[in-house]
Parts: sequence; structure tokens; C-alpha cells
Amino acid sequence: MQLVHQIEELHAHIRTWRRNGETIAFVPTMGNLHGGHLTLVERAKAMGTKVVVSIFVNPAQFDRPEDLAAYPKTLDADCGYLAKLNTDLVFAPTPESMYPTGKLRTKVEAPGISDILEGEKRPGHFTGVATVVCKLFNLVEPDIAIFGEKDFQQLLVVRQMVKDLNINVQIVGVTAVREADGLAMSSRNGYLTPEQRQQAPYLHQTLQEAAQQMVAQGQVTEEGFESIQQIMIGHLAEHGFRPEYFEVRRANDLQIPTRGDENLVILVSAWLGKARLIDNVQVFLK
Ligand code: PAJ
Repeated sequence: MQLVHQIEELHAHIRTWRRNGETIAFVPTMGNLHGGHLTLVERAKAMGTKVVVSIFVNPAQFDRPEDLAAYPKTLDADCGYLAKLNTDLVFAPTPESMYPTGKLRTKVEAPGISDILEGEKRPGHFTGVATVVCKLFNLVEPDIAIFGEKDFQQLLVVRQMVKDLNINVQIVGVTAVREADGLAMSSRNGYLTPEQRQQAPYLHQTLQEAAQQMVAQGQVTEEGFESIQQIMIGHLAEHGFRPEYFEVRRANDLQIPTRGDENLVILVSAWLGKARLIDNVQVFLK
């Protein structure tokens, strides 16, 4: 496995692979890898002849400086896991090589999808994500790129960007990988105390409960969605969470659903102690 820090060195590998007709499958990450990331890498391995994983804690997508400063950096351990999965290349650039001017100059904006839910709570976040993913696509030139449905809105932002900018890459979404008790794997779970870690699966339970209620009701009205949201926000607050949103949305564009919409997703964001947790479940009504 090659560990590459320099853009020129990355180019050299990509050029050779392109010349040899390899299919490049790419998994962008911020490191501190867990089972969720590794599942994406396994999917990449199954889809491409060469697998590239990037590890870059992207300053441009952090809306809170303390969150960026605290973000865990575990490059050696990450490379250990990736080598075991026969990853071909790990690209771990420095912030200076990605942003030589020290700031975001030319930006990729994906308006609409970026301004709601996570985007509303974390202003500028998705511009940082879309810009760095676009830069990484230009550097790695992948045929396929794999993203987790754990970050459902991020996946839609990336799909919109690729479509609108005619970027020639196939975007693949992978179902969220969970701990045995249902908690979605996340680097931020490490911020939980042991007691909070016990409590954390309740977040996923509220999503499942809401999904079950919707399926049982069949055709849910606008008032029905609203009432489920309010009830679940109440439950989360009673269980020690500080909920930011609990929203039923249309799965294709995250707009507010109306009666008769069948393809839905329930998205939640809540603080538990120092950890800001997000999760979602998709619901199909008929
Ligand atoms: P990061 O949080 O490291 O996540 C990298 C990829 O792993 C994302 O596609 C994310 O959705 C996926 N992932 C995280 N937890 C997962 C889980 N439990 N199950 C399945 N997939 C999971 O997302 C980012 O980094 C960054 O925003 C990035 C796209 C790299 C741009 O900087």
C-alpha cells in the first residue's frame, strides 16, 4: 500500500493507472477510521481494480474551531486497517497543499439542499464538503466514489454537485453501519462518556419508532408528520439528549413531504454531552 502526501506523487500513480485502463474506486474520509469507513473500502474493493482512500480533516467544512481542533487524528492506525484490506493508495495531503492560500477561494455551492437541516445548523458546512470533494475528484479522477448513507444529506449534496457540474464519476451510497445496539458508527461517538454511550442507541430507537408509526398509519398527513416529530423531540429531551431537529422529509430532495409521498427519510440531530450525533432511517410507505 502506498501512503502519499504530495499531490505530484498522487498524479504519477493516477497517470499510470489511467494509462493501464484500471478502474479507480475512491473513498474520501477524514480518518479515525471505524467499521463504517471500512465497509465503504470493502465495497470499493469489490467495484474497482484500484482503491484509493483519502484521509484529510478538511478545515473548510468545520463551522466550529473547537470541533476541528478536537477531531481525532490516527493516521498510523488508519493505515494499518487499510493495508489489511489491500487498499492500493492512501492519499493524506496537508492542509497547506489542499489550500495554499490558507482559505477557500473558488468554492462549490450546492444551494437548496445545502441550506436546510445540517446546512442550517452548520452554516458553510456543505460548501466546505462540496468544494473538497470536487477537489479530491479532480485529483484522484475516480470512476466510482463511495459514500455512507449515515450522512444522508451529504450524499445528496455530492450527487447534486456531480450532476450539475457533469463530473464523470459514479456515486455509490452504502447503508449506515451500526454497533450491535443500533448506534451508528461515528468518530464522534468517542466523545461520549460510558454512561452517555449506554444512552446513545436511544437516538436510533426514536427513528425506528417513528418509522413504525408511519408505516402503521399508512398515508400520513402533514399534521401526522408534525405530531410524530414533536413527540420524538420530547422523548429525546426526556432521555438526556439536546435535540436540534427530528424531521420527516422526502428522500430524493429532503423537502417537506405531503400526504401521498411514499419515499421518505427521517433525519435526526441531537447533542448528547459533548457529542453531536446524527442519524437517519429511510421509510417506504404505500
Ligand atoms: P467522514 O466523516 O470520515 O466519513 C467518510 C465517509 O464514511 C462518508 O461517506 C460517511 O458517510 C461514511 N461513514 C461514516 N460513518 C459511517 C457509518 N456508520 N456507516 C456507513 N458509512 C459511514 O464524511 C466525511 O468524512 C467528509 O465530509 C468527507 C466526505 C470526507 C469530505 O471531507
